[in-house]
Parts: sequence; C-alpha cells; structure tokens
Amino acid sequence: MNSASIHNRIEELRASLGQKVCILAHHYQSDDVVSHADFLGDSLELARKIKDIQSEYIIFCGVYFMAETAALLARPGQKVFLPDVEADCDMARMADASHLDHIITGLKSMGTKVVPLTYINSSLAVKSVTGKHGGAVCTSANAERMLAWALEQGDAVLFLPDKFLGENTAEKLGLPQSAIFRLVRDQRLAIPPAQSNLAPCVLENSGPVQLPAASECRGVRVFLWPGFCPVHERFALPQLYELRKLYPDLKLAAHPECPPSLVRRADVSGSTTFIINYAANAPNGSTLAVATEFSLVNRLASQHKGRLTIIPLAKSLCEDMTRTTPKNLLSLLESLSTCAPQSIQIPEDQTRTAKIALDHMLKG
Ligand code: 13P
Ligand code: SF4
Repeated sequence: MNSASIHNRIEELRASLGQKVCILAHHYQSDDVVSHADFLGDSLELARKIKDIQSEYIIFCGVYFMAETAALLARPGQKVFLPDVEADCDMARMADASHLDHIITGLKSMGTKVVPLTYINSSLAVKSVTGKHGGAVCTSANAERMLAWALEQGDAVLFLPDKFLGENTAEKLGLPQSAIFRLVRDQRLAIPPAQSNLAPCVLENSGPVQLPAASECRGVRVFLWPGFCPVHERFALPQLYELRKLYPDLKLAAHPECPPSLVRRADVSGSTTFIINYAANAPNGSTLAVATEFSLVNRLASQHKGRLTIIPLAKSLCEDMTRTTPKNLLSLLESLSTCAPQSIQIPEDQTRTAKIALDHMLKG
C-alpha cells in the first residue's frame, strides 16, 4: 500500500469507528501521523485532555509512559492503545522504582525530609513510589510551579529522572549551585571474555544510584537524579556559536531538557507548547534556532515559512517517537474494527499511589 492509500484507509476506518475512537498525538510525532490526530499536545496538555474524552478507545501516538499515564487517568471501561508498544523513552528507563525507594528511605533515615518530584517521563512504578513518599509528578510546562510546591513540603526535593530539567528549574527559582546536589551512579564494568583482547569498559547509566553521605546533604535543597534525555543532551554551545556566525541576530529557544550550559545562553527556554507559542509570536523576519526534537522543529519551520527562518540547533530526532507510523496506526485501527487487541495494562497495586502523585499536579 502506498502512503496515500494508507492515509485514506485510516480516515475510512476512523469514520466507521466514529466517536468510539479518539486519537491523541504528541508534538514530536511525524506530520503523517499528526494529520490523523483529534488532539495534538505536549505532555501536560495530553494528560489533562484524558478526563474530557468519552470514547471507548484512546489511541496514543506517543511513547509508553504517556499511554500508561492516559490508562491511569482513563474512566473505567476505556481502553488505551499504542500503535507500537515498543515505543519507550530512554530517559524514563534511567529511573527504577526500587532504586528510588532506596534513595528516599536512605535520605530520610539520615534526617532529611525529602520530597520526590518526578517528571512525567517515568514509569508508573516510579510515579507510585513518588506518591507513596508524598511527592508529585510534573511536566516541563509546570516544573517551576511544582518545584516551588515541593520545596515547601520538606527540607529538600529529589528531582528525577531528568537532571537537566531539575537544574534548569532550580536555577529559574533562584536556587544557588551550593543548594543543588548531583547524585551519581556506581560505575559498572563490562568484562569481556578472557580469550578476547578487549579491555573492560564502563557501562554508562546502568549502575545503582549512590546514596550521598550525611555530611554531603547539609544545605542541599534539590537532589538531582542522574538521568537525561539523549535527544536533548546532544544540544551544545558550539552549535550556537557556529549558527551565530551565519545569523548574528538569531534568537535561541531551548527546551529545558537541554544542558544548563546551553539553557543559560538561550534567549528563552520552555516546554514544547511554550516554544510553539514563542515562534507564533516572533516578529516577522526574525531568525530562530530551536533546540528540541527535530520533528517539531521541522513542522514549525514549514508552518512559518516565508515569515520566519527557523533552524534546528542540531538535527536530533527521538527514535522512539518515530516508531509510530501511519502503517502501524492503520493496523491498530483494523484490529479495533475486527477483534479486541491488547490495551495498555497498569498494575493495580501501583495505581492508587501513582494517582496521588499525578493528582497533585493536575489539580494545580
Ligand atoms: P513536553 O511535551 O512536556 O515538552 O516534553 C517533551 C518530551 O520530551 C516528551 O517526551
Ligand atoms: Fe524520552 Fe527524550 Fe524521546 Fe521525550 S524526546 S520520549 S524524553 S527520549
């Protein structure tokens, strides 16, 4: 089937399923997927949208943690589907529920009343541990408000999994570097087979997170978990210097998942929707460099073509977001019309505490 036939068949099936199905898409999805969405949004908007949906089937064109959050917030009887259940998030994989529980319990036993603040880009199990310890979930659109809230609840906040979003937000709230502590992992070595001539090498992002010593916790207001988004970590100052040689008046808009060294030099920094609005309100003729996922930057460049020059700071694509394609969206719609495909399942023992953590965010 060529892409035009796939597109037409998707629309035919959507028409025949009618109100029974609602398709949500994150802004990082490709144009040919976005063209089928009933609602397009950033992580916060998509989470907020769930309560308004009446459809029995919710198709989430995004990644696993988004669909899992939707399944948690859906009404009884509603089913949530991902066109490709393998669409995960590298950052979400960098935080593990049992490590988190161990670190919070350890910090509390040293006398620090620590409140976890978990980025929505995390597993349901991590959100559940967060709720269990009185913490909350946040997204990049409300991280400042949620960090201010969490700081009022205890002595310190454990921000996870994104160390960059945590640091950028703490800086926005005016916290000094001396109040920020970067947790690190124990290094793990991969030992090659004895016969090979290969040297042992350090495995990145795999070892358990180390509990700091009590003496290191004094004066700390924000502990940063050692996680990051590999898509946004690639953006760096030298890319900005190169572009400024060509466009001296260029403005930089950076997502707060980018490294703090870059965000400090950006003209503006904010969530996906913030960046979209910044471009929409930019004066005619201006040149913007945008440091965020490439599918979105590419769409903004075509939407504002002739009015603005929009350049990706670097071409950084989220491979997990690209796993959703018109082809697997079509297969899912075909199976929804004929049989009952497997929907996203959430472990019952985690839903109550995970919902507490999410509700702290959604009620604000
Ligand atoms: P937002 O949609 O909150 O801007 O998050 C970006 C992101 O990385 C989603 O995976
Ligand atoms: Fe995860 Fe980064 Fe991809 Fe978002 S862009 S889904 S944070 S890997």
